Amino acid sequence: MTQKNETVKVTANRLHELIKNKLMQAGLPEEAAEETANHLTYADLSDIHSHGAVRVAYYAERIAKGGVTLEPNINFTQTGPGTATFDGDNGQGHYVANLALEKVIQMVKENGIAMVGVTHVSHTGMLAYYVEKLAEEGIVSLSMTQSDPMVVPFGGAENYFGTNPIAFGAPRKKGRPIFFDMATTVQAWGKILDARSKGDSIPDTWAVDSEGNPTTDPHQVAGLLPIAGPKGYGLMMIVDILAGMIFDLPFGKHVSSMYKDLDKGRDLGHVYIAVDPSRFTSLDQFTSNIEQMVDELHAIQPAKGFDQVYYPGELAIESTERNLAEGIEIPKHIIDYLESDTVHFDQYGNKGAFAE
Ligand code: NAI
Repeated sequence: MTQKNETVKVTANRLHELIKNKLMQAGLPEEAAEETANHLTYADLSDIHSHGAVRVAYYAERIAKGGVTLEPNINFTQTGPGTATFDGDNGQGHYVANLALEKVIQMVKENGIAMVGVTHVSHTGMLAYYVEKLAEEGIVSLSMTQSDPMVVPFGGAENYFGTNPIAFGAPRKKGRPIFFDMATTVQAWGKILDARSKGDSIPDTWAVDSEGNPTTDPHQVAGLLPIAGPKGYGLMMIVDILAGMIFDLPFGKHVSSMYKDLDKGRDLGHVYIAVDPSRFTSLDQFTSNIEQMVDELHAIQPAKGFDQVYYPGELAIESTERNLAEGIEIPKHIIDYLESDTVHFDQYGNKGAFAE
C-alpha cells in the first residue's frame, strides 16, 4: 500500500512563477513559458490537478529533449469564410492553442461561425481554458483534442482511441461563463497520474490492467475505459475525426504517444468550432436564457446525499475562488522539484503510454 504524499499550500502567483521558471530552465522561450504557466495554474486553481503542475516534469523533459519546437513557424491558412487551419509547427501546445483563439474570435465576429483546426501541436491541456476565453468574448464554442491511444474500444482488448476530451463554453450575463469539459473516458489519464502522485488507489471502473481486468492500482493501468460503454466509444471517435482525421493528421492508434519519441513533435490535432449566438437571437436574450437555466437548475430539489445541483463548470469556479483565497494544495514532491535545480528526471521516453 503506497503512503499518501504530503501536500503543501502555495499561492497561485508562486505556483505560476515556479512553473514558468522550470519551463524556461528546460529551454522554452519566455512567452510560451508564461502562457503554459497561466494554463497550468488555471487547472490547479480549478482543482483539475490532473492538468496542472503534475505535468511540468514531463513537459520539461520533452522540451529539453527537442520534442517541442521552441520558436515555431506558425502558419494560419483561412480556407473559407468560416474555415481555417492554424499549423503550430509542433510548438508548445498550450501556447499555440491559445494563440489560435485570436483568429477564431476574429472569424466568428466577421462571419458568425468558425471551425479552426490547430494542427501539429503538442499536448493542449485543459480544454475549459480555451472555451471559457471564447465565452468571455460572447462566443459559444466546442473544443476537442486528440490524445494518445490508451483506451480500449467497446468490446476490444487492445487500445485504439485516446481519452479525446470535449469542452463546451457559453457566456453568462454575469460572472464567469458556463463550461463543460470532460474526457470521453471514465476518467482523464491525468486523474490516474494525479492518483499516482498522491499515492491514492483508483475505483475499479476507470481502467484495466495488461490482462484486460479492472484494476484499482493506478500503477497497473494498461488501458482506460470509455464513458458509458459504446456511447463514450462513439464520442471519442467523433473527437478523433473532427480534431485530427479531418485535417489529415494521424488518427486512432497512429496518434503519437505522450511518452515516446521525446525528441520528435507530436503532430496532434485540436479544434475549435465556434459560433456567435447573436446570429440567432440577441446576446442579451441568449444570456438571459442561460441565467434562467442556471437559476432553474439551482432551484432543483437536491437528491439524497447531495447538497445542491451545480451547473457544469460551477465546481471549478468555486474551487478557484477558494484556492485564490486560501492557497492551492499541491503534492510537496512537485513543489520540491519545481524549486530545485533539476530540469527533469529523465523518466519518460522509453516507458510506453502508461509511464510512471
Ligand atoms: P471531470 O470529470 O472532473 O469533469 C467533467 C465535467 O463534469 C466538468 O465540466 C465538471 O464541471 C462537470 N462536473 C463534475 N462534477 C459535477 C457536479 N457534481 N455537478 C455538475 N457538474 C459536474 O473531468 P475529466 O473528464 O476528468 O477531465 C479533466 C480534464 O482533462 C478536462 O479539463 C479535459 O479537457 C482534460 N483532458 C485533456 C486531454 C488532453 O489530451 N489535452 C485528454 C483528456 C482530458
